[in-house]
Amino acid sequence: MTWTLPDTPAAETLRPYDLRCEHLATPSGIGVAVPRLSWRLASDRRGDAQAARRVRVTGPGGVLAWDSGWIEDEDVSADYGGAPLTSFARYAWQVEVRPADGPATAAESWFGTGVLHPDEWRAAWIGHDPETEPPFEPPTDDPEPRGARTAHLPAPRCFRTELALSPATSVRIACTARGLYELRVNGHRVGDGELTPGWTDYRQRVPYQVHDVTDLIGDGPACVGAVLADGWWSGSLGWDGRRQAQHYGRDPQLLVQIVADHPDGSRTVAGTDEGWRESTGPLRYADLLMGEWYDARLEHDGWDLPGFDDSAWAPARVVDTGHGVLVPTAAEPVRVTEELRPVSTSESGGRTVVDLGQNIAGRVRLTLRGAARGDRVTLRHGEALTDDGALYTANLRSAEATDHYVAAGRPEETYEPRFTVHGFRYVEITGAPADVEVTGRVLHSDTPVAGEFSCSDAMVRQLTSNLRWSQRGNFVSVPTDCPQRDERLGWTADAQVFLPTACYNADVAAFFTGWLADLRSAQTAEGAVPDVVPHVMTGRHGTPGWGDAATIVPWHLYHVYGDERVLRDSLPSMRRWVDHVERHNPGLIWRTRVGSHYGDWLQAGVRTSRDVLATAFFALSAELTAKAAGVLGDNTARDRYAGLRARIGEAFAREFVAADGRITGDTQTGYLLALAYGLVPGELVPAAVGHLVADLERRGRRLTTGFAGVGLLGPVLSEHGRHDLAYALLHDDRYPSWGYSIKRGATTIWERWDGWTEETGFGPVAMNSFNHYALGSVGAWLYGGVAGIGQEEGSVGFRRPLIRPLPGGTLRWAEAAHDTPLGRLRSRWEVSGGVLRLEVQVPPGALATVHVPTTDPSSVRESGAPVDGVATDSALVCRAGSGRHVFTAAWER
Ligand code: BGC
Repeated sequence: MTWTLPDTPAAETLRPYDLRCEHLATPSGIGVAVPRLSWRLASDRRGDAQAARRVRVTGPGGVLAWDSGWIEDEDVSADYGGAPLTSFARYAWQVEVRPADGPATAAESWFGTGVLHPDEWRAAWIGHDPETEPPFEPPTDDPEPRGARTAHLPAPRCFRTELALSPATSVRIACTARGLYELRVNGHRVGDGELTPGWTDYRQRVPYQVHDVTDLIGDGPACVGAVLADGWWSGSLGWDGRRQAQHYGRDPQLLVQIVADHPDGSRTVAGTDEGWRESTGPLRYADLLMGEWYDARLEHDGWDLPGFDDSAWAPARVVDTGHGVLVPTAAEPVRVTEELRPVSTSESGGRTVVDLGQNIAGRVRLTLRGAARGDRVTLRHGEALTDDGALYTANLRSAEATDHYVAAGRPEETYEPRFTVHGFRYVEITGAPADVEVTGRVLHSDTPVAGEFSCSDAMVRQLTSNLRWSQRGNFVSVPTDCPQRDERLGWTADAQVFLPTACYNADVAAFFTGWLADLRSAQTAEGAVPDVVPHVMTGRHGTPGWGDAATIVPWHLYHVYGDERVLRDSLPSMRRWVDHVERHNPGLIWRTRVGSHYGDWLQAGVRTSRDVLATAFFALSAELTAKAAGVLGDNTARDRYAGLRARIGEAFAREFVAADGRITGDTQTGYLLALAYGLVPGELVPAAVGHLVADLERRGRRLTTGFAGVGLLGPVLSEHGRHDLAYALLHDDRYPSWGYSIKRGATTIWERWDGWTEETGFGPVAMNSFNHYALGSVGAWLYGGVAGIGQEEGSVGFRRPLIRPLPGGTLRWAEAAHDTPLGRLRSRWEVSGGVLRLEVQVPPGALATVHVPTTDPSSVRESGAPVDGVATDSALVCRAGSGRHVFTAAWER
């Protein structure tokens, strides 16, 4: 298990593959009436394209629910158009595609439905009833008491019921928690999702999952059970401390609905109610930030099997019966996607420190042999070690990130925490027997890998690895800032600046769909967007570059995935955001704060003008809103925001751009924002580029950018013919640079350029995460610039790919692949002996514009033959239809 791009299927002729429903592979419980079905295309033939397609959907009992008939077009998605879907059903679907001159081929998949009508919910929310609680008696041989921060954490509880479900042709369970749940049926854990149901803005929507448990049901009575823990609902969250951090509720609650279909056509529907029984179990507490305390001596053997005597358990309490905010889960669940073996183990002050060799979000699984009953093993997690080899935890702030396991005394016992997650590379273990096995378990939202980048330079490869690991470590149900300290919040700028890189690496369409729903619903009545989504901290909103996630994220998702629905859902929110900023800044220079202002957060040693930064984002948001309105055919709105954008542009130029092209503040980020967002009057662009370049040169080719500017360095410099400078920054390993952290052994992207320096050692502990992806937003330039995989202006969903690689720096070769909605797009270049070789793979149905880099456009050949194209200073520009193309060209540098 590693995070690598899967192979595309071999395809002598055009064929569909990788079928999705609502952007998800085989979702088991969708909740929309008109799901979108989509597929990718593969073909080994040159110039292949889909000429016609047909989708058929079959419902329960093999009944045909929809036949689209053959439709002659190139669309690789179809909106379901058949009979109304029914709840808790499984639908098989098939897509057939046909090229203009070949046979039709088909592929199949399925999707399941959840609860399509709210009145179909029967289950009630249940929880723990303190009134009926039997007094909790910890074992008398309890080792030490808990720490101060965990003393008040309540114990997660187990809930169970037994019921008759057989004979059944299918049994499905819809399950969720205000908290976290682990579902069990007849002794088995159900599903492979972790930290379910995931985090959303629970005040607005609580996601549920649908599990098919047919195979777990035998002949006799069935036992359905669940363990329920605090999670995001009632556990520690952010830095507020637990009291205030119980943002949603004091106690977790559970909701389970069981639907069994019988051979005679009847259906049993049952759910959580006061007939369920509950008890504490082996978990003494479980908290996302603090960790877990598991006492194996307190396990109830067989509690999740039928026949268990639960007479000593208390009746569950029905806490409410409202289902208003239940929504089917919109994205891939968090899963364990990889296991890591320790790379080394050391001893420091009598403690064992295990190094996994990689900073991750996750936890460890322990296998202990020979532990005595009552032995307590303690696991502390950290991202770094101090100089004397001890675990460094100062940067975790109040997150204890500590798990305790109290052994039952069996010859072999295995423990893995379930309701917590840590950001760490090192684990300090105390109290374990000599025979202990440690396995790192990597946890994150299981978004499908959609891209890969590699090149000849080891440091750049490490950078690529680091930013992928930071994506994995921070996409944990929502896009977070960091996985380790007492924060782990959905900071909107972090998500926004990293999004282009994230989309190249993985298919995040579904992942961001749910998050955007939370962003929209958290917008204030005025239109301000909170700084963190899900919105859990009051008083922080309306921040330039943060709030603009409201326009940037939907637009970019549309650009990459070509699904207009994201714009339809978001346009009102985009407008409200822009209107809000405008209302407070009628002069169109965004000077009046409408909330917080962090400027170019974590910039290195400079101060980019906050007004420049804010106004640049204002212009960008107005522009994207105009474009979105245009796509949706709302021409009035399009004209209004396009007009606004033009006026902001004029105001910006008047206020901030001097006659010599200098931009107020004279910082790299100031120039980058103004150039990238088209805010420098045409005739002054060369001068502004000159100032940017001069600043870089003056600093010995070193960057000063923070969150807002860093991702623009590569694109802007290459756009203006200075990718030599972009490469200089990429290869740099002096402070501040990406290479500096890599030289120090970083395996993820650091939050700050000075996370650690020779002069000061570890950076300020108040804010020093070693796993923050914002500064990793350079990834998009590696794919889009270095390897040159992008889209032509105006193209969406990669219909018109642009392949424009940038050989340069010390690289001898680079390559990237990306799974576009049509299929795989790939580019690989290599220079050797005065010849550049460019290999391009274009998916069926796409027509690519290829810039073959060369020092002599007349030398360009494809498979030995001259190529038709337009010569530029540095390339021959030609067209390439689908299939594999190999170009060669002179390269005299
Ligand atoms: C977070 C950031 C975030 C910032 C806002 C920090 O604490 O970790 O990544 O964007 O606050 O200023």
